[in-house]
Amino acid sequence: MSKYSQKSILKTDLRPATIAIVGVGSVGATTAYTLQLSGMIADIVLIDINKDKAEGEYMDLNHAAPMTTETQVRVGEYSDCVDAAIVIIAGGANQKPGQTRMELAAKNAKIIEEIIPNVVKYAPDTILLIATNPVDVLTYASYKLSGFPTSRVIGSGTLLDSTRLRCNIGRYYNISSDSVDACIIGEHGDSELAVWSRATIAGMNLAEFSAATKQEYDKESLHKIFEHTRDAAYNIIKRKGYTAYGIAAALTRIVEAVLRDEGSLLTVSIVGDYYGIKNVALSVPTKVGRDGAHHIMDLTLNEKENEEVKNSAKKIRAACDSLGL
Ligand code: 2OP
Repeated sequence: MSKYSQKSILKTDLRPATIAIVGVGSVGATTAYTLQLSGMIADIVLIDINKDKAEGEYMDLNHAAPMTTETQVRVGEYSDCVDAAIVIIAGGANQKPGQTRMELAAKNAKIIEEIIPNVVKYAPDTILLIATNPVDVLTYASYKLSGFPTSRVIGSGTLLDSTRLRCNIGRYYNISSDSVDACIIGEHGDSELAVWSRATIAGMNLAEFSAATKQEYDKESLHKIFEHTRDAAYNIIKRKGYTAYGIAAALTRIVEAVLRDEGSLLTVSIVGDYYGIKNVALSVPTKVGRDGAHHIMDLTLNEKENEEVKNSAKKIRAACDSLGL
């Protein structure tokens, strides 16, 4: 049984939820399938300006339903967001090979300007979960456009990057990524940083773990692990043209933390004041539960990390300023 099916919401006393997905391109459609497989969701609404695309994804997903879970999938309009516990925003352009996420800002900000007011009109109490890149800038844009409290506008942030980092560290030490506690913070993008000073395995920092397991502690190798993590999307997009499975799993993880009211600390992106930089959306370990996401602390960093995260925050803030946000 998959981890999700063991905890299927339909087999617990938690209220089965409706999730709406606006934008059923590669990320939105894959997220719909991942949510369907999870067994957590009663009802998924697919919304897209391309009706044929939405219909096609609906038809395909519904053929999977009898062999997966009881989740109902349907095509809808913005008015169908009315019962959504969470509305996932995945509409917009994806990176082309070699293109940065930030280069999508102006184009995708216009798309977000169209989407958010239509969602809020019908779902004023929902939680917005932003996946469209550059996700930190568009989380901030969605916060301004929606008038929601910061807790109800969540960007997928660096949750995927932190997972990629844990996988890469696990591979380096030949242990499960589940046993690695490490995170990427800041921008979901080129200015992100790995918090090496807080990375632990079995409660030991990496130098202690290396010594205890008689493995080499090589800072150059760890830096290559960070570069491989930061540049993962570029390397995937160069080969298959887009990413989808990783971000879909990250979005599903955030949905799970909300629906189960977990209070988990996930590196998602919400608007706040970080390390002295005000009014910006970026990722640090953030508490996620039924009422959304709360910035409860700035992670204690070493001097280099502190400088890097401020640089990242300033970059995101500057991109928002350039869009008049
Ligand atoms: C990713 O990192 C493209 O932001 C997306 O997979």
